[in-house]
Amino acid sequence: MKYLAIAGTNSEVSTNRMLLQFMKKHFSGQAEIELYEIKDLPAFMEPEDSHVPEKVAELSDKILKADGVIIATPEYDHAIPAVLKSALEWISYTSQALTDKPVLIVGASHGTLGSSRAQAHLKQILDSPELAARIMPSSEFLLGKSQAAFDGSGNLIYPDKVSELEEIFREFVLFTDITSKLLEHKALNKKGKKFTWQEQED
Ligand SMILES: Cc1cc2nc3c(=O)[nH]c(=O)nc-3n(C[C@H](O)[C@H](O)[C@H](O)COP(=O)(O)O)c2cc1C
Repeated sequence: MKYLAIAGTNSEVSTNRMLLQFMKKHFSGQAEIELYEIKDLPAFMEPEDSHVPEKVAELSDKILKADGVIIATPEYDHAIPAVLKSALEWISYTSQALTDKPVLIVGASHGTLGSSRAQAHLKQILDSPELAARIMPSSEFLLGKSQAAFDGSGNLIYPDKVSELEEIFREFVLFTDITSKLLEHKALNKKGKKFTWQEQED
């Protein structure tokens, strides 16, 4: 399996990025995980000339080529960071590359709740018609007290959290496989597809 792991932040130091770096190393025997930074994407706006920024096209291409996507989100004011929302708006407005893509949501926070509200928010966003990702159901990986969670080598030091993550990742690999089988015979005609709100206006 090849996964694209998106760090939902533009902070230089991020425990969500550390979590993805740990996953890349820890699961290297089971999957190839590529980390992706969204900090260089422009803030979303509707371009008058329909021009797709290079970085947005790059992200879309990487999502399309991946078997699945892992998103690690911090929590800002009970929601996902604006930079992550903006990246998702670009995908929704341009390639819709997340449609039917298996997605695993994880998150870390400095407090005890592990970005639980941001993760719920992200699920709702990914379920919108123009994103329509296949979010892995009944799973939540919440890493609280994340500033103390990694040692100097980037290893997650809470054994219960490592076991939980291993179980969730094992399930995600299975979920990716099952989802691809489910979609095998589904006719995907994304080209020329109208936005839901455009169809409503007709
Ligand atoms: C503007 C701002 C708002 C925040 N709001 C919340 C919040 O609503 N809930 C929460 O648990 N943590 C909140 N935090 C603290 C975050 O847990 C923490 O900064 C972030 O999730 C950790 O992710 P990172 O290490 O990847 O940057 C907030 C932090 C900032 C800077």
